[in-house]
Amino acid sequence: MPPENGPNLGDSVEREVFAQHRRLDALFEEVLDSFRPEGSPEATREAVKELRQALEVHFDQEDRLYYPAIWALRPDLKPQLKTLVDAHGEFLAQLDRLETLQDRGERAEARSVFDYLSAVFKRHEDAEEAVLATLDREIDAAR
Ligand SMILES: [Fe+2]
Ligand SMILES: [Fe+2]
Repeated sequence: MPPENGPNLGDSVEREVFAQHRRLDALFEEVLDSFRPEGSPEATREAVKELRQALEVHFDQEDRLYYPAIWALRPDLKPQLKTLVDAHGEFLAQLDRLETLQDRGERAEARSVFDYLSAVFKRHEDAEEAVLATLDREIDAAR
């Protein structure tokens, strides 16, 4: 296990965040799948619940663990990372909207909130991965 400081920190945070993103992508796929015509509202509710739990854990780790550790070493990245952290609440708010619509039986509207959320969340992941990949390149250059 490398020590949690210096260049290795960027490496291990990057690996962990990327892995979590791929798990979240799979949960987004499950919600999408539940919206098929033959899918049930209960299946959507369950899939959304699972996605929410995973997102809450992921956001909490980014907000309190991963990104503060990075910006402690790289204060120049703090503004970018802070902007990403600040976006987290809005994703959960969109999930609230989705659930409210779903509970009202407004499945088409719930689906369009989901499509919007999926698109903006994908861009969010890409932006985070781009910042983390910068760290990676710097680590490689230092080797
Ligand atoms: Fe994030
Ligand atoms: Fe993330």
